Amino acid sequence: MSEKDFIAHHQASIENGNFQWSAPSNIALVKYWGKKDKQIPANPSISFTLNNCKTITKLAFVKRGFSTALDVTSSDFSFDLLFEGKPKENFKPKIQKFFERIEIYCPYLKDYHFTIDTENTFPHSSGIASSASAMAALAINIMSLEKALNPAMTEDFFCQKASFLARLGSGSACRSVKGSVVVWGNHVEINDSSDLFGIEFPSQLHANFKNYQDTILLVDKGEKQVSSTVGHDLMHNHPFAEQRFAQAHQNLSAIKTVLENGNLEEFIKIVESEALTLHAMMMTSLPYFILMKPNTLEIINKIWKFRNETKTPVCFTLDAGANVHVLYPENVRENVLQFIKDELVGYCQNGNYICDAIGNGSQLIIDN
Ligand code: DP6
Repeated sequence: MSEKDFIAHHQASIENGNFQWSAPSNIALVKYWGKKDKQIPANPSISFTLNNCKTITKLAFVKRGFSTALDVTSSDFSFDLLFEGKPKENFKPKIQKFFERIEIYCPYLKDYHFTIDTENTFPHSSGIASSASAMAALAINIMSLEKALNPAMTEDFFCQKASFLARLGSGSACRSVKGSVVVWGNHVEINDSSDLFGIEFPSQLHANFKNYQDTILLVDKGEKQVSSTVGHDLMHNHPFAEQRFAQAHQNLSAIKTVLENGNLEEFIKIVESEALTLHAMMMTSLPYFILMKPNTLEIINKIWKFRNETKTPVCFTLDAGANVHVLYPENVRENVLQFIKDELVGYCQNGNYICDAIGNGSQLIIDN
């Protein structure tokens, strides 16, 4: 598939309707950090799709010119944005930018007035990035409209283009359409992998990873000092960029084998090394920055101690922030949750953490 295969051409006409989809967050095991023009990743990445942390978005649309109250000129996009039922003006520029980026692929967008009504299942300002789930949920809703305009569209194309559009909103969002493990970015050993959209991990996932747990420890809920977009940018001219991109390819090869054979010791090595490398890239950028907090390090050390002492296969990963994702198999859930309650909750802001697990991807809620 190339970019031009995603340009919509023949459409039927449809006056109004609404859809509602949920799309989950995801946590990368091999990280995307650094990108080229047009949201093309500098290296391939792989993630677990989550189950509980999601965005639920309703898209209502009405053809412009059919209601006298609405602008009939269609010179610009026309949409209202509601967050948890209330207008949210400061989210609008992001959506405007997203529409501008995807317009070439969705030329029907200016024909409609949209009401986008969105909410998250996780607390607002929990420090959990909502851009992946939010952009995925919006992209999939738009694809529901496109499918209504072009009913012959296949299921595969629907998902690919939803992921393709989501990527243009936020790179990691392209990994939030499908479950339960998603690869984004060209990799020689992964058939059909693409820089343009995420695909389901094509091998059989080992039983050790069934219902794998992710407990998210909310260390810092504040606004990040450096956004991911700025961080990605700092990988241009980064002294270790080329080595890092090559390493991500190697780690993806290695984790592919691990996800097939269930070797948790190897899994832990790759995942923790990826998390620390991500933050090492931040610390060695110019300007340099640190997103971990003292409690992030306290938690990491406690996890290492607990793992050494109990031989429990529990590990951590980090996204671009201070929160810690604690990853472990379902069969040690009780012990790990007890350990979290006894030893880690004290390092969380207001004692807050979220229990999640590997999930199946986006879900259609309303279709009319
Ligand atoms: C550290 O997808 O948020 O979470 O494409 O600029 O929106 P943009 O960046 P974003 O970056 C995510 C970075 C990461 C690693 C990952 O999810 O792979």
